[in-house]
Formats: sequence, structure tokens, C-alpha cells
Amino acid sequence: MRVAVVGLGYVGSVCSACLADRGHAVVGVDTSEYKVECIRRGASPIVERGLPELIARAVKAGTLTATTRIAEAIPGADVVLVCVGTPSAEDGSLDLSHVKRACAEVGSALRGVVGPGGSGAFVTVVMRSTMLPGSVLGELQPVLEQTSGGRAGLQFGIAYNPEFLREGTAVEDFFGADYTILGAGCDRAGAALKQLYDGVGGELIVTPIPTAEMLKYVNNSFHALKVAFANEVGRWAKREGVDAQEVMRLMRRDTKLNLSGAYLSPGFAFGGSCLPKDLRAASSRARRHDLDLPVLSSILRSNDVHVADAIHLIERFHRRKLAFLGLSFKAGTDDLRESPILRVIGALVGKGYDVRLHDPSLDMDRVLGANRRFVESELPYLPERLRADLDEVLAHAEVVVIGNRSAEYRSLGPRIRAGQVVVDLVAALDRGTVRAGEYHGLAG
Ligand SMILES: NC(=O)c1ccc[n+]([C@@H]2O[C@H](COP(=O)([O-])OP(=O)(O)OC[C@H]3O[C@@H](n4cnc5c(N)ncnc54)[C@H](O)[C@@H]3O)[C@@H](O)[C@H]2O)c1
Repeated sequence: MRVAVVGLGYVGSVCSACLADRGHAVVGVDTSEYKVECIRRGASPIVERGLPELIARAVKAGTLTATTRIAEAIPGADVVLVCVGTPSAEDGSLDLSHVKRACAEVGSALRGVVGPGGSGAFVTVVMRSTMLPGSVLGELQPVLEQTSGGRAGLQFGIAYNPEFLREGTAVEDFFGADYTILGAGCDRAGAALKQLYDGVGGELIVTPIPTAEMLKYVNNSFHALKVAFANEVGRWAKREGVDAQEVMRLMRRDTKLNLSGAYLSPGFAFGGSCLPKDLRAASSRARRHDLDLPVLSSILRSNDVHVADAIHLIERFHRRKLAFLGLSFKAGTDDLRESPILRVIGALVGKGYDVRLHDPSLDMDRVLGANRRFVESELPYLPERLRADLDEVLAHAEVVVIGNRSAEYRSLGPRIRAGQVVVDLVAALDRGTVRAGEYHGLAG
């Protein structure tokens, strides 16, 4: 394909060289004469392992050239990759001014393609710079449409293709990625990107543009969280006289619960007899060491916010008759200790809501037999409101709140009546099966 790459910094120069190495005809564009001159000489404008060799080879083969003028690079291009910087503004917000300027120049050059007398070729403009959800469709598409006179999806394509390379191993990352995310505004844009990455970049996954924009931030936030977490473990272990490297080596060995997809689906707060208690003990120990561990000691506060949010969400419907399905902190146990849904129920019972409760793992006689004192002091509302019959609880409710993923709640969707609201805190239902009534989750 014929590719124009706008911005020859860390992302753009790697991208240009790797695509040229794959046989695409690449023209790199930068406002910096120095970077353009570097490429023209067959040298790398940045320090990056493997890049000088790739650039030298591609320039010699004639598959990579460079210019300071976007207008020279666009005519004839099938795909334009925008890789300019998106720095932090003074207030921490994202500064899109460089990308907007680059898009305006790309759009003006596109006018010659999509406008009267133009070739009418379908050019796909692909943002690679990191930008927040909504930026491409809300802020850059209008710039491109206004400057080109064309409509995205009709006269030209628009897409977002996040860059996941790591400096230092950028070339390896380009060729050896697990996946390449293609946020496509239309089918033709998706097809152009698939052709561009054919044979490299791992699995090619097409998504809506905002999903691709957000994924980049989610990945980077998670990486930063991992570093911060491991560093806090390191500082804490030192105070305990424990070998931090050994602890984390063993922690990483567990690929079932630790390094895995476990616990990584958005839903409701955690609870139960262990996590809250153990986090409290760890924070308390850190305080005793006079040790500041902001990540570890903020986890419970973050958890509390989900409980407060669930209460707000339920109250927003202004209906008095509520059903709560699933009371224990997870399905298949009758352990009610520190179950977060009980905090939601307690708050709403206290406000006078008419509440009925159901949980297939809870037998009131057994709970009272084993934990009478706990129920009487912490959950006095439970015995008179718990019902064994799910139909009775559903019939009562204007709002049905699902608090754990008990198997029998999974198929509840078709039983929701018109006018009823489902608040599915744990993504137990397939929302498409709720044909009558309204469906709401905590996480979209
Ligand atoms: N550096 C990384 O490892 C990395 C990884 C993934 C994503 N990203 C993201 O990719 C984007 C680019 O990052 P980078 O590190 O390559 O930035 P960079 O600052 O190294 O390069 C940006 C280049 O764009 C050029 N430029 C700016 N405006 C231009 C215009 N109108 N026309 C032509 N060229 C123009 C600049 O001269 C510069 O050379 C950012 O959004 C960044 O967050 C960076």
C-alpha cells in the first residue's frame, strides 16, 4: 500500500520503517527538517534498537522517503497514519492541538483527492497518537471533514489504531505484537487497516473507535498500576525483613488467580471474610511502620465508592419496592460476612424502602442456627424479608437488583416485566435477553 506517516518521532519513525520493511511504499512527514534529513540520509532520527538498519535498508530500496510537506505526501496515499505528539496541557488535560493541526493539513491535502477534479480515491486517515475516547469522532473527524470538504465513511475513511510499542524494544513489539487493534469508523477503513497489517501485528481485531481509544489508556493505566503495586510490595517487604523479589516471584507463579483474567471484569465491589479484613490489616501495619503505601491503602476506599454508587443508582429510579437477588459476596456460599450488597440493602431499608430478598444459598433456619448473633446485630432486617420463592420476590419488585452471579439469575432476562427496572451490579444477565423493562449495570 502507499502510506503517508505524519510525525517522525518515536512512534512515526518505527512505524514508517517497519511498514516500509514489509514492502509498503512509505512517505514520512515531519515539520522537523532534522528528522526528515535523517531519514533521507538513511539514518534513524531516534535511538532505538534495530531501527537504523531497517531505515537504511528501506531508504536504499526506495520504499521509505521523507518530506516536510504534508501536501506532498498525501496525493496517491491509500492510508495516512497520524503519529504526532499529544502532550499534557498545563492543567493535566490532553493537548490535541498538534493532532488537530496535522489533521487540518491532511484534510486540506485531501481536498485535492475528494474534491472536484480529484482522483476520488478512498484514503483512510488513521490516528495513532494516544487520545481519549471521543477525540477522533468528536474533535478530529469534524476538522478533517471541514478542511477536505468530504464526509468520513463516504469520501474518506477514518480509524484509530493505538500504538502499544515500548521504547527500547519497539521494532520487536511492532512485528511480535499479541494483537493489533483496528478501531474502524467504517468497513472500508477496517479493510484498509487489515491490508496494511497483513502478516504482522498478531491477531487483527476490529473495534469501534472509542473502544480502541480507551483501550490504550486502560492498558497504560494497568501497566502503571502494576509497577506501583510491585514497588509498594517492595518497600513494605523491606520493613518486614522479607525478600520482596522472592515474594513477587511466587506471586507471579500463580497464573490462575494472580496473573490471569481473574478479577478483571468490571462489576460490583469485592467483599467476603478475607479481602476487606486483610487489606485493613495490611494498611494498619503500614501505618505502624510509618510507611506510605498509597495504592494499597486506597483499595478499600475505591471499593466503598462502588457501594455508594450502587445506592445512588437504585435511588435514582424513585421506586419504593425493591428486590435484591444474591446476598452473599459471591454465588454458591452462605457466608454473609462483609458482603457489599448488604451495605446497599442496609442503607435502603434504613430509608424506608419496601425490600424483599432472595438468595438460593441462604436457608434462614441454617443462617440463624449458625450465626444468630451476627444476623440479629448486623442484619436485623433479614429474617422477615428473605423469601425462598424467587417468583414472589420478582412479583413484588419495581426494581430488581442482582448482587451475585448465582446460576438461576442468569436466565432471568425474559422474566422481567414491562415497567420493571433491573440493576445488574455483577453483569449476571445477558442484557439482550431483557426485552421488557429497563436494564442498568454499574459499569455501562
Ligand atoms: N513514545 C512511545 O513509546 C509511544 C508509545 C505509544 C503511543 N505513543 C503516543 O504516540 C504519539 C506520538 O508519540 P511520540 O513519542 O512518537 O512523539 P514525538 O514527540 O517523538 O514525535 C512527534 C513528532 O510529530 C511531529 N509533528 C508535530 N506536529 C506535526 C505536524 N503538524 N506535521 C508533521 N509533523 C508534526 C514532531 O515534530 C515530532 O517529530 C503520542 O500521542 C504518544 O502518546 C507514544
